[in-house]
Amino acid sequence: MCARFIKSKHFFEEGMVESLAEVSEANGKVWDEDAELDVVGKGVSRIDGYDKVSGTAKYTFDIKLPNMAHAKILRCPHPHARIKRIDTSKALNLKGVLAIHSHQNTPTIPWFWNMSQLYDAHLRYQGDEVATVVAETERIASEAIKLIEVDYEVLPFVLDPSEAMKDDAPKLYEQGNILRGKPDIYERGDIEKGMAEADMIVEDKFSTQVEVHHPTEVHCSVVNWDGDRLTVYDSTQGIFAVRDTVASSLKIPTSHVRVIKKYMGGGFGSKLDTGKYTVIAALLAREIGRPVRIAMDRKEMNQSVGNRPDSFQHLKIGAKKDGTLTALSHYSIGSSGAYPSGAGCSWPMRSVYQCDNVKTTDFSVLINAGQGRAFRAPGHVQGTFGMESIIDMMAEKIGMDPLEFRLINYAEQDQVSRQPYTSKKLREAYEQGAKAIGWWDRRQKVPGGMPGPLKRGIGMATQIWWGGGGPPAYATMKLNRDGSLDVLAGTQDLGTGTYTFIAQVAAEVLEIPMDQISVIIGDTATCPYCASSGGSTTAPSVAPAVKDAGEQMKEKLLSAAAAIMETSLTNMTYWGGKISLISDPSTSMDISAIMQKMNERILVTTGRRSANPDGYAINTFGAQFAEVEVDIQTGKIHVLRIVAAHDIGRVLNQQMLENQFHGGIIQGLGFALLEERVMDPYTGTLLTMNMCDYKMPTMMDTPQIDVIIVSKSDPLISDVGAKGIGEPAMIPTAAAIANAVYNAIGVRMKSLPITPNKVLDALNA
Ligand code: MOS
Repeated sequence: MCARFIKSKHFFEEGMVESLAEVSEANGKVWDEDAELDVVGKGVSRIDGYDKVSGTAKYTFDIKLPNMAHAKILRCPHPHARIKRIDTSKALNLKGVLAIHSHQNTPTIPWFWNMSQLYDAHLRYQGDEVATVVAETERIASEAIKLIEVDYEVLPFVLDPSEAMKDDAPKLYEQGNILRGKPDIYERGDIEKGMAEADMIVEDKFSTQVEVHHPTEVHCSVVNWDGDRLTVYDSTQGIFAVRDTVASSLKIPTSHVRVIKKYMGGGFGSKLDTGKYTVIAALLAREIGRPVRIAMDRKEMNQSVGNRPDSFQHLKIGAKKDGTLTALSHYSIGSSGAYPSGAGCSWPMRSVYQCDNVKTTDFSVLINAGQGRAFRAPGHVQGTFGMESIIDMMAEKIGMDPLEFRLINYAEQDQVSRQPYTSKKLREAYEQGAKAIGWWDRRQKVPGGMPGPLKRGIGMATQIWWGGGGPPAYATMKLNRDGSLDVLAGTQDLGTGTYTFIAQVAAEVLEIPMDQISVIIGDTATCPYCASSGGSTTAPSVAPAVKDAGEQMKEKLLSAAAAIMETSLTNMTYWGGKISLISDPSTSMDISAIMQKMNERILVTTGRRSANPDGYAINTFGAQFAEVEVDIQTGKIHVLRIVAAHDIGRVLNQQMLENQFHGGIIQGLGFALLEERVMDPYTGTLLTMNMCDYKMPTMMDTPQIDVIIVSKSDPLISDVGAKGIGEPAMIPTAAAIANAVYNAIGVRMKSLPITPNKVLDALNA
């Protein structure tokens, strides 16, 4: 029996299922692993491509409402302070200023897990919100914030998380600086026994820097009250999450808040949480009775809207001479920043390799700097760098090829849950990636062995992530009598291609041309609920809901056609957007004809994402191989090529898949070599306040990128079988580059970013 009818069983009387199953073969493809699909999987151009390249696409940043006012936030200049007095009278007298809010004249609204408030008189980093001015123009608002007089009681600060853990460190919170007061500890087996059984032990320390998200579109909101109802245009990864947070903050029903987001210039995790600025703008808009726009500038983007926490990792692993891992120990400290945010990075160590004795300890520590937030594979990017470095070191110590060492310790089942994977094709990724880069013959046999000042090397690293998606995700289809289709889903397109894959899935199921399909997403008022876009789950969650809605629509049309033709369902076939008798193709009726006979103007279905199967672990897997050239005279690293070989289930769109890989790999390259938030240890202030000092990779740094997908589908998770790729694409890049650098120069770089200075210092040591 065909899987898609089992999945959509809820739609039918039990008795009908059998008969529908019989006709399923004639009525569309089963999306099994070897299915030849017509639209899904193809490199279809983005349906929003024209809007974007022509500049007509309206991002939240571009929203202009009549009579709209502009807000600007005054941010704390000190790393740690308390507000003693605020005097806004001069600022209020500036022509064009409409209102000013601070903790003095706004309700107490809990924020950051109730550890702080929307406006808190206790300021915990340089950049904390002190007051907000709303004015006729952004420029006037910017001028006005300079006229606000604030007396601060300046407090001692701490920036280094190891320092912040000490008893005598300046405290950000009464309960201390360690998040939840203790580390996050995971243990399986007996770590001491595992170390004792090892023939070899390798122990070392690794560190990674704070990385700032920097999506192309800055964080911004435009808010508008209509009576007691609020519309929020927001650049967000979660329209329903923003709706709920804004409603609870303002103590109004969620039904009174509508959140809209059409186009978006990226988020990378920084737009998963609702921004304070959104609620700040809503309060001001309510007071002045006008729409309010608030947009961060690049300074605020660097300082205040989130970052990837740093990590200080102390790793120790044990293995037998034959290459079997006997113990894995991970200890790390990471900075949450001034407000609570998990900074752990031990998941790769817990889950990538087969090992019975594992212990991980992660401290998340509060310091006087901007808050950490989820950032494209939070924890995994940092943890993979440390783990895959020390795995290479152990392989060398044993005298084994690093890839062979990894294969010996291949995990056949999930190491944490002890459950089988729905599918795992990491072995294929290793094999095909290694072949593509020339692993077996092009690596330096002796690290650093290439003669001359320009030294080349090849390295690799492994990726694991979740990304299977799941409920809740719903999609509604409205089929119109002219044969056009509207698909609505309360999801959001961060720039990743959500609009396009929704249209592709609908086009595939109903065999309607793409240009007759409209996709409406990013609106809480009109679209059925979908979860936030995070964790690489959007496509694997939403695509099956769209498919389900489509299958239901097809079944509606088939039932109607059977009634019209006075025959049974088993005699009907759906093909090319038309229905006919199996015995007589000349009887064919198209959608318009069927709906006319039905006397219907519109047919509506709502599909849903089914639950994932019980008893399985669902993961994405991959391996990246890097080739680098290091100039040992200057320390400059040139990444020549990245081969990315991954298991991500079914590919929905080849072109967008490669876009995701390019983005993830370039971001990973930035993390490996360039990007770093730098704080001044003496003043506690941010030194990388602009995009000149905070170095991001450009086209000039971009290597050749080759993408190999080793999977066809993961049929156990859904009948679409897609897993996410947004985060997996970035996870192993920095680790692969670092291992390639070692292969090139014979000196191991243990601290990211690997700047020319660090390379020269290491070579000279
Ligand atoms: Mo992502 S860090 O789940 O947006």
